[in-house]
Amino acid sequence: MQTLSDPHRLHQLVRQWRLAGERVAFVPTMGNLHDGHIELVHQARTRADRVVTSIFVNPMQFGPSEDLDAYPRTLEQDKQRLFEAGCDLLFTPERELLYPAGLSEQTYVEVPGLSDLHCGASRPGHFRGVTTIVCKLFNLVQPDIACFGEKDYQQLAVIRTMVRDLNMPVEVIGIPTVREADGLAMSSRNGYLTDSERATAPELKRTLDITAQALKTLGLETRAELEQQACDRLSQRGFTPDFIRICHGTTLAPAKPGDTSVVILAAAQLGRARLIDNLAVDLTE
Ligand code: PAF
Repeated sequence: MQTLSDPHRLHQLVRQWRLAGERVAFVPTMGNLHDGHIELVHQARTRADRVVTSIFVNPMQFGPSEDLDAYPRTLEQDKQRLFEAGCDLLFTPERELLYPAGLSEQTYVEVPGLSDLHCGASRPGHFRGVTTIVCKLFNLVQPDIACFGEKDYQQLAVIRTMVRDLNMPVEVIGIPTVREADGLAMSSRNGYLTDSERATAPELKRTLDITAQALKTLGLETRAELEQQACDRLSQRGFTPDFIRICHGTTLAPAKPGDTSVVILAAAQLGRARLIDNLAVDLTE
């Protein structure tokens, strides 16, 4: 596995692969890799001849009071894991390459509407930062396909919309969430949890499961009550819920009676960690 931070060398290598008729998959990350990221690399491997992973802690997607400085950086360990997973190339761009004029002068890409809902309402500017960096990384890497985790459900929806609206020649693939044995979705931010918070954290997924079950029995007419009950359940267990929303699976608007493909989106603070999770529910079953 090669590690490059020079975009010209990256471009040369990817060009060689493409000229040889090879299909290139891309896995963008912010590093501190866990099994969820490694699953993205494995899935990318099965769909392409070459896999490029990037590690860049993107300042543009962090709010002023968020954890940019604290965000864990574990490059040597990440390199080893990527090598073992069969990644061909690790791209570690410098901040100066990506934001030469600083953040305030940066041209940006924004998906209107969808970027302002849910996590976007709680973290203003977050999705603008995500779409801008993903667009820049797509331009630098020029992949055929790109893999993203479904744990970040809204992020995936926003990126799919950007790719569609800007006719980007990249196929976006969502990969199912990888969970710990007790159901907690893997996340770099789980590392912020104390032992007792870690023991509580699987209650987020349990709350989603209970809400999904109730939804199947009681129907979407009870959406608001079920959302409230789920928030109350989390509060009782020591979370500070940001939201639990039962949404249309694609538009992420509040689900209405008659919708069949819905998703329950959850975000809650637990100690220092802002945890997110989601569960897709098929109401035709
Ligand atoms: O999901 C992430 O890790 C980040 O949001 C991404 C897609 C790598 C952009 O910085």
